[in-house]
Amino acid sequence: MLSKRIEKALNEQVNAELWSGYLYLSMAAYFESSNLCGFAHWMTVQAKEELGHAMRLYRHIVDRGGRVTLTSIDKVPTSWASPLDAFEASYKHEVKVTGLINSLATLAKKEGDHATDVMLHWFVTEQVEEESSTQLIVSKLNLIGKSSGGLFMLDHELGKRGQK
Ligand code: FEO
Repeated sequence: MLSKRIEKALNEQVNAELWSGYLYLSMAAYFESSNLCGFAHWMTVQAKEELGHAMRLYRHIVDRGGRVTLTSIDKVPTSWASPLDAFEASYKHEVKVTGLINSLATLAKKEGDHATDVMLHWFVTEQVEEESSTQLIVSKLNLIGKSSGGLFMLDHELGKRGQK
């Protein structure tokens, strides 16, 4: 059985993950409008991953006898100054999500909720990958600078991202 405090915190994280998906879908739409189809594909896969994250939490709440309560999803930005600007925003966002996951894990430990603590280990590991993948693309975009050839090649590379 989940405590009310943990149930509320997990529901807030469901909302945060859905917001992340909404953000990445908005970035996908931005890239589509810039004819960067590979970047758009990468962001679409990312948006789906975020829905998967929300569903992991959803399932845990239900399996533990809690109640999932979905609340409104705040609006997201719709445009960015450049691909670099969008990926810098993604990286910053992932750092923020890591902080949210860490706070949740600390709360689960404090309350002695071992099942939630163990479930969150997956998210702790996932956040390492989330930060690293967005930071790597930021680094590549910085290397590319204003080279349209470089941007074209990176677009091709990102277009190959598979689904998890
Ligand atoms: Fe669900 Fe990108 O963190």
